[in-house]
Order: sequence, then C-alpha cells, then structure tokens
Amino acid sequence: MRGHIHFLRRGAVIRLSGVAPHLTLLDYLRLHEGATGTKEGCAEGDCGACTVVLRRRAPTLPSPASGGGKGGGLVYDSVNACIVLAGQADGADLITVEDLARDGSLHPVQQALVDFHGSQCGFCTPGFVMSLFALFHAPNALPGTAGVPPASSLSASGRDARGPRRIGRAEVNDWIAGNLCRCTGYRPIIDAGLAACASGAKDRFAADEPETARALAELDDGADVFAGTSERFFAAPASIEALANLYAEHPDAVLVAGATDVGLWVTKELRELRKIIWLGRVRGLDVIEDDADRVTFGATVTHAAALPHLAAVDPDLGEMMRRFASRQVRHMGTIGGNVANGSPIGDTPPALMALGATLVLQNGAATRTLALEDFFIAYGKQDRGPGEFVRAVMVPKLKPDERFRCYKVSKRFDQDISAVMAAFKLRVEGTRIAAARVAFGGMAATPKRAPAAEAALCGVDLADPRGGDFACERLSVDFAPITDHRASAGYRMKIAQALLRKAVAEIAGAPSRTTRVIGWREEAHAPAE
Ligand SMILES: Cc1cc2nc3c(=O)[nH]c(=O)nc-3n(C[C@H](O)[C@H](O)[C@H](O)COP(=O)(O)OP(=O)(O)OC[C@H]3O[C@@H](n4cnc5c(N)ncnc54)[C@H](O)[C@@H]3O)c2cc1C
Ligand code: FES
Ligand code: FES
Repeated sequence: MRGHIHFLRRGAVIRLSGVAPHLTLLDYLRLHEGATGTKEGCAEGDCGACTVVLRRRAPTLPSPASGGGKGGGLVYDSVNACIVLAGQADGADLITVEDLARDGSLHPVQQALVDFHGSQCGFCTPGFVMSLFALFHAPNALPGTAGVPPASSLSASGRDARGPRRIGRAEVNDWIAGNLCRCTGYRPIIDAGLAACASGAKDRFAADEPETARALAELDDGADVFAGTSERFFAAPASIEALANLYAEHPDAVLVAGATDVGLWVTKELRELRKIIWLGRVRGLDVIEDDADRVTFGATVTHAAALPHLAAVDPDLGEMMRRFASRQVRHMGTIGGNVANGSPIGDTPPALMALGATLVLQNGAATRTLALEDFFIAYGKQDRGPGEFVRAVMVPKLKPDERFRCYKVSKRFDQDISAVMAAFKLRVEGTRIAAARVAFGGMAATPKRAPAAEAALCGVDLADPRGGDFACERLSVDFAPITDHRASAGYRMKIAQALLRKAVAEIAGAPSRTTRVIGWREEAHAPAE
C-alpha cells in the first residue's frame, strides 16, 4: 500500500500526500507549485485554457527488466487541468506550457504560433500550445478522417503503426476543438499547427523518451494507493479485487474514472469530496476485447481509446465519438462514466442501447449482467446497489442484415452536449424492416428506447417513401420531452421525427450526401450495404 500520489515533473518525482482528495491538477499547479502559465478560463472543461499534457507509457510497453523503454512508447494526452484531479496524474509525467521553451529557444509549436501571428491577448495561447504540442507527438492519421485511425491499423498498444506522418486541416481542427480563442481567430492558429507538425522537427521530449519511459516504469509499482484517513482519502486501487473490497467498505465514496463529470461537482458546485476512489489504476478495467461478433469495453476505457473500435462497428459511431466533447475530454472521459452517470443527454447510451449492449456490474466478488436500457430507472436513479460498480459494457457487432444509423444534434458542432441524440438499428429482409431497435437521448428523463415507434417500423417497406411516417407519429406516444436551455419540447419532438425519417431514407438507399451537411458515410468507407 502506498500512502501518497506520485508523478514525474521536469525529471523529478513529486510525492503528494495530505492534500484535499478533490484537489484539481490546475489548483496543484497554480496554488501549490506556483506555475501560473496554465490558465483558468471556464473551470468546466470547455475553453481549453488549462490544457496540460500527461505523458504516460503506452499500455503494452514492456518493463525495464525486459528491455522496455527503447525508443519511447509514450503517449501524450492533452487534458483539462481544471477538472482533472491531481491524483489522476499518478504515474504520469506532467508537462505544462512552462516546460516547452528551453535556453531561450521556443518549442516548434510556440515558434510557429509566433511566425503565423497565432496570438493576440494570449490568454488562450498556453492551452493552444499544449493542444498542438500533444498533436505534435500524436500518432499518424489519415487525411479526411480527422485523426481517427481505423482499429485495424492500431498496434496492440493502441498506437497507430502506420508510416510517415500526414496531418490535415481537419486533424488540427479536431485537436483544438476544445480550445476557445476570442480574439486571434482560428486560421493563423491552424496554420501554425500545420506548419509545426509538418516540419518533421524532433523536440527534446522525443529525445528523452527512453529515459522518461524508464522513470515512469519505476513509478509503476502496482501498489494500491490510499492517501489520507478512513474519513477523508484519495484512493487508487490497483486491482479489481482491491477496488471491490475498498468500495464495499466505503460505499459512500465517490468513484472517479475520468472526472469529466465529477470535476465539475468540485469546480462548479463547490462540493467537498471527502472520499474518492479513482479507477484509473485498476488493472484489467481498461481492457478492450474486440471479437468477431462483439466488442467489450472495460469501464475505464477512454473515449479516445474506444473511438476506432466503435468506428469499425459503424462509421456513424466514429462520427459520434469524434464529436464527443473535445480531445482533452476524450483522453480522460470513459465509457463506464458516460453510462454510470445516467445522464439523459449522454451520447453513448442511446447508441449502445440501439445496438443491444449489455452492462456488467460487480459488487464484491459477484457480477451480474443486465440490458443497458434496464440500468436507467429514472432521472438520477440507476440500477446500481451500494458498493456496486460498472465493470464493462458488451456491445454486439452488426449482423449482415442489420443497418445502423445514429445522429447527434447540438447547438455547436464540436464540444457540445446533445439536445437530441438518436440511434437506430434495423434488421432488413429484402425491402422490409423485420426488426427495429430505436433509442433516444434528450427526449426523456433517461436515455430511452422508443417501443411504439419500433413496433410501427416493423413491416415497413423501405421502397415506400412514406413508409416511416406512422413510426414518426408514434414517437409522441413514446416521449413527452421537456423544454430547457438546450431545446424546446416542440423542437425536440420535431427533430426526433426528422431523424427517424432520415434514418429510414438512408437505409432505403438515399446517399448521405443528400441527407447530411457533413459526416458523409460514403467518405468514411462505410461497409457495403
Ligand atoms: C467540456 C465537456 C464536454 C462534454 N461533452 C460531452 C459530450 O459531447 N457527450 C457526452 O455524452 N458527455 C459529454 N461530457 C460529459 C462527460 O465527459 C461524459 O459523461 C464522460 O463519459 C464521463 O466519464 P468520466 O470517466 O469522466 O466520468 P466521471 O466524471 O469520473 O464519473 C461520472 C459518474 O459516473 C460514476 N462512475 C464512473 N465510473 C464508474 C464505474 N465504473 N462504476 C460506477 N460508477 C462510475 C461516478 O461516480 C460519477 O457519478 C462532457 C463533459 C465536459 C466537461
Ligand atoms: S479552464 Fe476552461 S477548460 Fe479548463
Ligand atoms: S489570443 Fe486572445 S483569446 Fe485567443
């Protein structure tokens, strides 16, 4: 058992104990370390001014004893320091904007921002620098995919194993979608990102990777972490068994996975979280099993890691995940957290419900499974007992006669929560719909299936252009949406009906170029239908 949190900072090991369990990484930097280069703008993960990089070992990097560390194998994850807890840096190398320039020479991304006039007031600039620095070190991506490598191109470590680097505008856009700039305008910033990444320059971080990988391997002690007292602690169990025991002992503790929801309880609701169990060190909880007929995500699989696997199930899932928050949030936020929080406007639950996903829950040594839709009981109420946690989500892949579509409607394209999220899985026999699973977010107090519309879809002839009309009407039996600041009830119902009509039209054969403004399936190399 280790009684402190430890991480690397500028080559030295920092050991933290006796700090508030919910201390954010930003407060650690600004208040404890006095490193004020990292800014606070929104304190809710939206503006990116607080972006820092957590450099970690790629999951399969061998231990030093087996010769690991050769040539690096490190990942550079941009994260929002304002909502990430300091304890979540455990085992990582924390890099901030102050660390980039050395001996009077700017880092290539900083120099490019100067050369392309990518900064005016400069408040947003440290965050842009760090997002572009993460991109500078990111794996390759194909043009036109906004940085989404297909699952088939990933090595076992999750890194992209393909050849020389090619960066496009869309990819830079994607990496800075979580950074707001109010005065410079994005074109010069994007130009700077393109120039810095295309230069092929190596920086000192690339040079010190073997050494850092060795230092990180030494920090990776496999010990359970318990920093604090039984009344007030930050704990990070290292195994599923240790997690189950600790949570059974402290069912009043807050489970934290990525903290992209929980962080806001701290910064916006000013909640004092006295007992925190962080899941980020639990071995085996971050595993993805991608089999022929299903993909199983361990609860702490991040959205960034899940993305290529979901995109391989269906391109619409890839597009949904690309529009899920920002890179920073996707690097920390997890599939388990998105399900467990029970939000009626979470993006993945409707899509996973339409696919027929099953949840694995664990309490002590006992596990149980249930259909994902049965997990959501009422607003803020999920089928999860004291001491019980989400262990995995099992997602069936599409069968040859099944067609899938999902659509996210939000006020802003990037970095926005859905007003309505819709997902459809139709089984098609000839030209007829033989079975339907339809699920919506933003239409009820929980993510919810649409049984009346599903029944109305069964038997519809796809050759009939008005075939989906009755199912659209039946959505008003399934849902009575509310009006809030994201959308009115009337808008929600209208858009839900329009999305159902669109799904039926596309599955009947309408090319997505005629039904969508962007996110064309044809370009995403959709499987033949
Ligand atoms: C700027 C921003 C943009 C966002 N955009 C989107 C978006 O586009 N779409 C969207 O759906 N969401 C969005 N979110 C919300 C959030 O990112 C997601 O809900 C995310 O998936 C939460 O995962 P997490 O690991 O960070 O959860 P955490 O914040 O760590 O936890 C969330 C909740 O789940 C519980 N929990 C976590 N893991 C488990 C587990 N294994 N078992 C039991 N309980 C558990 C926690 O106790 C907590 O109650 C956004 C958030 C931010 C800050
Ligand atoms: S301060 Fe705005 S994202 Fe962190
Ligand atoms: S330079 Fe002022 S907000 Fe970006």
